[in-house]
Amino acid sequence: MRFRSMQLGDLDMVVGIENIVSPVPWPTNQFLDSIQNHHSKVLEYSSGIFGYAIYSYQSDQAELLNIAIEPKSQGSGWGRRLLRLVIEGLPTEVKKLFLDVRVSNFRAIRLYHSFRFEQIGERESYYRTSNEAMRENALIMCCDVSDSRQI
Ligand SMILES: CC(C)(COP(=O)(O)OP(=O)(O)OC[C@H]1O[C@@H](n2cnc3c(N)ncnc32)[C@H](O)[C@@H]1OP(=O)(O)O)[C@@H](O)C(=O)NCCC(=O)NCCS
Repeated sequence: MRFRSMQLGDLDMVVGIENIVSPVPWPTNQFLDSIQNHHSKVLEYSSGIFGYAIYSYQSDQAELLNIAIEPKSQGSGWGRRLLRLVIEGLPTEVKKLFLDVRVSNFRAIRLYHSFRFEQIGERESYYRTSNEAMRENALIMCCDVSDSRQI
């Protein structure tokens, strides 16, 4: 397994996974922008990419913008490993890691709780859903990076 920076040539595989795992997938341009302006990492087997994480940081704060594992590889500890690699790779001056998550995404919320993320707020009707007429709230979560590094 390799953990490396996302490259332009990865976009087709990454977008392919995103289209399966996300109710409202990021378009290719958003991943392109992430390669150019954020930190974008992939997990790769010899057979191809099976996970990715996008994050940004500035001074003492970081934000996890997207994280996913392709469906066949989910539930085997890869999401946990990927999040750990992201946290371990943050510069030492980063103290807090923030993220937004759909209230219905119990699997991700459980993962975040296990890294000692706590809910610090909620955004009403923040996310679009596959039903144009429905919106979904986002939980705003935050962890203390030094605590999470010990997990
Ligand atoms: C969320 C996601 C990244 C987790 O990756 P994963 O490889 O499936 O998760 P892991 O196998 O590493 O499991 C890590 C933890 O997630 C939680 N989890 C995983 N599968 C779960 C399930 N079926 N039900 C409930 N919790 C689950 C558990 O807390 C688990 O820890 P445990 O095994 O010690 O109980 C992955 O499910 C995914 O890509 N989902 C779709 C995209 C997404 O929702 N991204 C998050 C956006 S905020």
